[in-house]
Amino acid sequence: MNNLLHLKQQDRIGWIGLGEIGYHMASNLHRYLASLHLNMTVWNRDPAKSAKMHHHGPRVAKSIEDLVAQSNIIFTSLANDAAVEEIYLQLIELASQVDHSIIFVETSTIYPALATKLSKQLSAYPQHTYLQCPVFGRPPVAKAAKLIWVTSGDEKAIKRMCLYFTTMSKSIIHLKTLDVAKACNFKLIGNFFVAGTMELLAEGLTLAEKADVDQESVLKFIETFMPGPVWLEYSRKMADGAVLDKEDGFSVDLGLKDVGHMRQLAQDTGASLPTADLVYDHLKAIQDKGLGGQDWSSLINSLRDASKLPLIVEKQSYAGEKGEKGE
Ligand SMILES: NC(=O)c1ccc[n+]([C@@H]2O[C@H](COP(=O)([O-])OP(=O)(O)OC[C@H]3O[C@@H](n4cnc5c(N)ncnc54)[C@H](OP(=O)(O)O)[C@@H]3O)[C@@H](O)[C@H]2O)c1
Repeated sequence: MNNLLHLKQQDRIGWIGLGEIGYHMASNLHRYLASLHLNMTVWNRDPAKSAKMHHHGPRVAKSIEDLVAQSNIIFTSLANDAAVEEIYLQLIELASQVDHSIIFVETSTIYPALATKLSKQLSAYPQHTYLQCPVFGRPPVAKAAKLIWVTSGDEKAIKRMCLYFTTMSKSIIHLKTLDVAKACNFKLIGNFFVAGTMELLAEGLTLAEKADVDQESVLKFIETFMPGPVWLEYSRKMADGAVLDKEDGFSVDLGLKDVGHMRQLAQDTGASLPTADLVYDHLKAIQDKGLGGQDWSSLINSLRDASKLPLIVEKQSYAGEKGEKGE
């Protein structure tokens, strides 16, 4: 038996959180494990999502306690800080009672101080390890196993996890730091670039329409002059009026969480981040209309509203090519 296989047979993987992105990540990881005749255990708050996953093979844990008992590697993909804190409160308590060691791989987008707090709490039980490894890429990118991972935490544990990260991603950025807050900072900065690009596009496309400039020509310009995946996908999505609902996308609600964290990080570090304030206000206006489940590119409607242009109200299927950018 070669070393790699031996290592994998020791690993018993558990996954908590089968939302828009977690579901695809867990599916890809499971596909890889299944190719080695290994299984994984999943748990989701809404049992319907675990049942859907079970259909493809993974075991469903009866409870979080059951999952902890069966796993020595646990991935988490959860909506927000409150969910992560709530689940880790249980995980850390349970980890204090088991006699095997566990590597926790937290992949959600959370505020850095929470990662530090959880890592410190878990360090009371030194047999366990906490890694903060957020991801970039929307659900279709996750489905295609082309996410970008960012790693922070214990180097040896990260090395051991790399094989698994690879099954879900196209690249891994190693921050090479024990400070797990750093990956959260990195993730928020990356998402700031995405959110800022979206704001620019929403404003520019709105101006183009008001100034009666042919939209296809504007898109062609973006395509040839700024052909980055974020520019291409969001310009096409906004121009097509493809204000998607959350399925396949990144919701206004989650976007507000991330932009709120960016603003907090700016405040805590003394940085000036005026673009984040604009994006926040524009997303908040959409949420206030009860449309927090729409894709966050629908912030263009705030600009359209202020510019007295008709709002994009109907969900239309997005016919454009899906890029590989991410949040
Ligand atoms: N979607 C993206 O494009 C994207 C990209 C990169 C990173 N992210 C980050 O990845 C994380 C997950 O995103 P997502 O789009 O998958 O979100 P999502 O579709 O809203 O799924 C959230 C997951 O968290 C679970 N959850 C929420 N509150 C919970 C609680 N109190 N206790 C237990 N479970 C709870 C949900 O369980 P239920 O099914 O029971 O509701 C679900 O499994 C977020 O931090 C997000 O910022 C998302």
